Amino acid sequence: MAQFIIKGGRKLTGEVEIGGAKNSVLKILSAAILLSGRVVIKNVPAIEDVRRMIELLENLGAVVSYLDEKTLSVDARTISSGVMRDDLAKRLRSSILLIGPLLARFGSVSFPHPGGCIIGQRPIDLFLDGFRALGARIHANFSGKYSTYRIDGKNLRGANYFFRNISVTGTETLMMASALIRGTTILRNCATEPEIPVLAEFLNRCGANIKGAGTHTIEIRGVSKLKGGVFNVIPDRIEAGSFAILAAATKSVLTIKNIIPEHIESVLSALICMGVGVEIRKDLVRIRPAKILRAHSIKTHEYPGFPTDLQAPFTVLATQADGQSLIHETVYEGRLFYIENLNRMGGKIIMCDPHRILVHGATKLYGRDMESPDLRAGLAFVVAGLVAEGTSIIQDVYSIDRGYENIEGRLQKLGADIIRSS
Ligand code: EPU
Repeated sequence: MAQFIIKGGRKLTGEVEIGGAKNSVLKILSAAILLSGRVVIKNVPAIEDVRRMIELLENLGAVVSYLDEKTLSVDARTISSGVMRDDLAKRLRSSILLIGPLLARFGSVSFPHPGGCIIGQRPIDLFLDGFRALGARIHANFSGKYSTYRIDGKNLRGANYFFRNISVTGTETLMMASALIRGTTILRNCATEPEIPVLAEFLNRCGANIKGAGTHTIEIRGVSKLKGGVFNVIPDRIEAGSFAILAAATKSVLTIKNIIPEHIESVLSALICMGVGVEIRKDLVRIRPAKILRAHSIKTHEYPGFPTDLQAPFTVLATQADGQSLIHETVYEGRLFYIENLNRMGGKIIMCDPHRILVHGATKLYGRDMESPDLRAGLAFVVAGLVAEGTSIIQDVYSIDRGYENIEGRLQKLGADIIRSS
C-alpha cells in the first residue's frame, strides 16, 4: 500500500489552488439519478471518493464519462433498479446519499449499512425515520455478512419531518427524495452547510421547487420531472482550511487561491486569535506566520461553526502554540484517537473524555512511522510530518487520497519534502 515519506522542518512558500469540494460533488453525482436528462459536472476533483461513487453509479447502470480532465458527464436515465451492490456501497459512507434519489425514482431501494471513515458510530436512523415519515416501509436484515436494508415506498407523499440530530447527508438525502414525490415536505432542524443550498439551487435550476436550503427549515414542493443541467463544483472549504492550518503550523507564507473565504470564517477567526497573519481577499487568503503562536480552544460545531473535519489538523497546530488549548469534538465520538500518534511524536495531549482533549504547547515534534486512520486525521499526520524534525512515514495513504487530490505534488510545489512510495 502506498505511503508518504516526509522530511519535516521546512518552511513552505508560494500559492496553492483549491480544488472542487468532495462533499459537494458527491451530492450532485447522487442527484443525477433524479434527472430525466444528463448532468455535466465541472471542476470535479480527482479523488478516490469520486471514483468510488462513479463505480457505484456505473454498476447501477448509469453512463458516466469524462469530457475533459475535470468535467464529468453523468446520464442516469439508463439505471433500471434501486438495488445497490453491497460490496461497492460498503466502501463509502456517501453511498447513503443514493438511497433518496433511488427510492423517489423506483419506489424501492436495497443497500447495505454504509462504510466509510471510522470516526464514530455513524448510524442511519435519521434517514430511515425520515423515509418512514414520507410513507416508506423499512425492512432490515442483520443476519448476513453485511447489515442490509430494503425501503419500499411506491406512493411516497410529502410530510413534515424534524431531525433529532443535525445531519448533513440526512438533510440532503431527504431533500433530494422529496423533490420528486407528490406533495409538500417540510424538513426542520436541517443542516446548513454550504453544500446544501448549492445542491438545492442546482435542483431548482433543473425544475425543482425547494425553498429555505441553507437555513434550518427547508420546504420542498414535489414535482413530477426534473431535467438535466450543468453544475460547477464549489471550492472545497475543508481543503482550504487544511492548507491555512498547515501554513500556520509550518510557519509558512502561503496564498490559498480559488476559495470562498466566508466558508472558512470560523477557522480564519481561530487563526487570527492565535496571532497568525490572515489577509482575506475576494477569492483567496494569504497566511503569514505568527510572531508568537498563542494557544486557542475550539469546539466543533455544525456550519458556520468550527468544522469537525478540521479538528485533527487544528490539534497539530495547537501542539505548536504556547499554552493550553482545549479541543472539544461535539459531532463524533470517535474522532480523537489519532492523538496517540501525535504523543508518540512528542506532543503533550491528554484525553479528558471521549469528546475532549487538552493540548499543552508548544512541543517539538519528531518524525515517526504511523498509519492514517481516516481522511482528516491522515491529513493531520501530513501536517505533523511537515512540522516535525526528522522523517515521518505515513502508511496506507488511500484514506488521504479519498479526499485530497495529489496532495504530495501540491506540497512539493510549495517546497515540502514529501514523496509517495508504493
Ligand atoms: N447521525 C445520527 N443519525 C443519522 C445520521 C447522523 O445520529 O442517521 C449523527 C452522527 O452520528 C453524527 C452527527 O449526526 O454524530 C452528524 O453526522 P452527519 O450525518 O451530519 O454526518 P454526515 O452527513 O455523514 C457529513 C460529511 C462529513 C462531515 C459531517 C459533519 C459528507 C459526504 N460527509 O457527514 O465529512 O464530517 O457531515 O460535518 O458530506 C469528511 O469529509 O471527512 C467527512 C467525514
